[in-house]
Formats: sequence, structure tokens, C-alpha cells
Amino acid sequence: MDKSAFRKFISDKRNKLSEEQVQGASSIISERIKKLPVFNNSRLILSYMPYGNEVNVLPLNKFILEQGKELCIPRVISKTHMDAVKIKNMEENLVEGHFGILEPASSLNPVNAEEIDLVLVPGLAFDLQGNRLGHGKGYYDRFLANCSEKTFTIGVAYDLQVFDNIPHSPHDVKLKALVTESGYYIF
Ligand SMILES: Nc1ncnc2c1ncn2[C@@H]1O[C@H](COP(=O)(O)OP(=O)(O)O)[C@@H](O)[C@H]1O
Ligand SMILES: [Mg+2]
Repeated sequence: MDKSAFRKFISDKRNKLSEEQVQGASSIISERIKKLPVFNNSRLILSYMPYGNEVNVLPLNKFILEQGKELCIPRVISKTHMDAVKIKNMEENLVEGHFGILEPASSLNPVNAEEIDLVLVPGLAFDLQGNRLGHGKGYYDRFLANCSEKTFTIGVAYDLQVFDNIPHSPHDVKLKALVTESGYYIF
């Protein structure tokens, strides 16, 4: 299967999850993340706003703010690039943006990618070599290429999104770890 057939296959599978399945798995995944030393030691975290049936990290985002950590959310700035923007409040700092996904208001300034300690990376498919398949626009590949070597990256996914080997290209940035409802994998 090539990348685009694979994307459709996974996206269809994930769309079939019930609300209960999404919330049940999302809460297990979020609890796993909260217990990780790499999470607890991170000050500046880039998370995301879940779209469709993506793992629901909204309660985790709230937790990040409650812990006094700094929370960034992606903001699409062009057909190819996104920024990480610090928000202080999940209710007031977000507006509907590209693809119907909530994103930080235009008045808020982006952070320097090199300063980010941890990125929680959504996606469509992942493998246990750190490869990731996104929606096909390469936003995270370009963004992660600008992060520091010290920036830790964790793919966030359901077990159904994990495969032995997924198609990848030289520009695909490998992740350092992956978390699903059944485990935490470091590469
Ligand atoms: N760092 C990069 N520099 C230039 N082009 C890139 C970069 N990363 C990705 N691209 C381009 O973006 C497009 C989508 O990338 P792809 O990896 O297929 O998407 P995704 O990671 O969202 O699944 C490809 O045409 C790829 O060549
Ligand atoms: Mg890619």
C-alpha cells in the first residue's frame, strides 16, 4: 500500500471508533503520558487540539496548564508551515482555524521551536521504528526539523494506528517514542 491508500485505510478505521472507545482509550493514553518522567520534567510542551476521532488530549492540555507548565498549540501559517504558539487559557486563546481545527488567536506570538521540551505528535499511522504518517502535508516533518536535538517527541495514537512497518521517505522526521493505550515505546 502506498502512503495515500494507507492514510485512507487508517482514517476510515479510526472514524469507526465509538465515542466510548475514543474517550476510554484517550483517558488511558493521557494517564500514561502524565506518569512519564520526560513529561514531568518538561516545561514547554507542544500538544495539539484533537480533530475528529484523534486521541482526545483536551483534559491533558488542561492538566499541563494546571501544573504550571507552558502549553503550545499548533497554528497553521501557510500550505506548508505551522508555528507553535503558547496559550494560557484553553477557553479564551483559541479560535477556529484551518481545517476547522481550533488554533491560537493571531494576536499570540509563536515560540522558538528549539525551546520546546516535548512535542505530542498526532498522526494517522505509526511504526515501532519511529516512523509516522500524517495527513499528507508534511507540517510536522518541517516543524520537527527545526526543533532541538533535545526536544523529545512522542507519537500519540490508538493501537489500531500502529504497524510493523509504514511507508516513509527521507524527509520524514522519526519520533523518539510512541504512546498508545497498550504501552509506551522508546526508539
Ligand atoms: N522538510 C521538508 N522539506 C521540504 N518538503 C517537505 C519536508 N517535509 C515534507 N515535505 C513535503 O511535504 C509533502 C508531504 O509530506 P508527507 O511526509 O508525505 O506528509 P505527512 O508527514 O503529513 O504524512 C511531501 O511532498 C514532502 O516532500
Ligand atoms: Mg511525513
